[in-house]
Amino acid sequence: MSFCGGRRDKHNSYHYSLCLSVLLLVTATAAEEASTIISRFQQYLQINTAQPQPNYYEAAEFITSQAKSLNLESQTLELVKGKPLILLKWAGKDPSLPSVLLNSHTDVVPSEHHKWAHPPFSAHLDPASGNIYARGSQDMKCVGLQYLEAIRKLKASGFQPTRTVYLSFVPDEEIGGDDGAGKFVDSDVFVKMNVGIVLDEGLPSPTENYRAFYGERSPWWLVVKAVGAPGHGAKLYDNTATENLLKSIETIRRFRAAQFDLVKAGLKAEGEVISVNMVFLKAGTPSPSGFVMNLQPSEAQAGFDIRVPPTADQASLEKRIAEEWAPASRNMTFEFKQKVSVNDKFGRPAITAVDSSNVWWALLEESIVKANAGVGKPEIFPASTDARYFRERGLPAIGFSPMANTPILLHDHNEFLNKDEYLKGIDVYESIIKTYASYIEHPRDEASREEL
Ligand SMILES: *[C@@H]1O[C@H](CO)[C@@H](O)[C@H](O)[C@H]1NC(C)=O
Ligand SMILES: [Zn+2]
Repeated sequence: MSFCGGRRDKHNSYHYSLCLSVLLLVTATAAEEASTIISRFQQYLQINTAQPQPNYYEAAEFITSQAKSLNLESQTLELVKGKPLILLKWAGKDPSLPSVLLNSHTDVVPSEHHKWAHPPFSAHLDPASGNIYARGSQDMKCVGLQYLEAIRKLKASGFQPTRTVYLSFVPDEEIGGDDGAGKFVDSDVFVKMNVGIVLDEGLPSPTENYRAFYGERSPWWLVVKAVGAPGHGAKLYDNTATENLLKSIETIRRFRAAQFDLVKAGLKAEGEVISVNMVFLKAGTPSPSGFVMNLQPSEAQAGFDIRVPPTADQASLEKRIAEEWAPASRNMTFEFKQKVSVNDKFGRPAITAVDSSNVWWALLEESIVKANAGVGKPEIFPASTDARYFRERGLPAIGFSPMANTPILLHDHNEFLNKDEYLKGIDVYESIIKTYASYIEHPRDEASREEL
């Protein structure tokens, strides 16, 4: 506090005590402001937007009232009935420049209430640790409201964006996103927004550095089925359905172990390998007490959740599935319950460049550092987020949730975020939004003229 510097001798005690009270006043105001910010966060967390019956309208009302207090233009799009999407706009001085889109989802996953130390929609603030416990505190109501708090600060400072900044609060991310971000990117409203860069969710980091994501693995949900002649449980014969299926399971298991070994050895990150996990096994002939025990069934199937990194060779994995995991020669068939392409609609891997070719990445790194924080090497998100809908359209999208020094508790019991981490994240977004909204691309010819 530079205005409280200078001499602190006895003769100056009046000045000193005046300064002290101003300092206390400033500190008190800052503390008051922080507690107002935290209580707004708690209010949002207290709205029960858990799938499968999220209270979307209450969330919409809350966000709209926040937008009103900030003088942001707001509209509610009901692209699917009962699933409102709230779109806010902070108009930029140059509407011809591509806009910045800050995306977040309003829904959260369900919780097993009895396994939580504090009810998941109480948003309990533990006074000793400063941790705020709530479903959605990490995934991702924190981010949605941090965007708004950052804009509040920027507005208070008199900042005016050059580029238009949009905020979308989308439904249904936790059940796939087709009726949320999926419908949004297909809408006329979205096309008119002329989006140039999207920020969406990331993951907390247990270290000091934030994490950022430039792509994500695509879910391939595979069911393999085997058939074989049924027979007596006492008879040994070849080509039974369970034998045929087990051969596949063994092959898939070896593949899984090899991929996992790369992660265990530190050669690849989790998001860089193809993960395969068996999620169901189905066979047998039911009986009143369980299963018929002396009959070999004629059908057997298994389901696998496969996650494919955008860098993987899609065609060779398809070939592997058809020839080794479910070969017709072994009387096996397969079906995908879901199969998201690793490519965008132009046939290129759906990843956002994180080198010098993408100025938004450099600006993100720079603005995080400016806010006295750091970000690690960009990663592939191990699961799915709404960011894929934007990347599929060829738009750059970066997954980023400013939570450092925080255990990863997304979808887990006792999900929490520390209030100081939350407040710090607001400063980080203030820096990012300011940088993004101010960025003006230098036309190439002008740049080369400068060089001459
Ligand atoms: C596949 O099914 C056919 C017809 O039921 C059978 O003759 C053949 O032995 C089976 N082959 C395998 C590998 O199960
Ligand atoms: Zn999420």
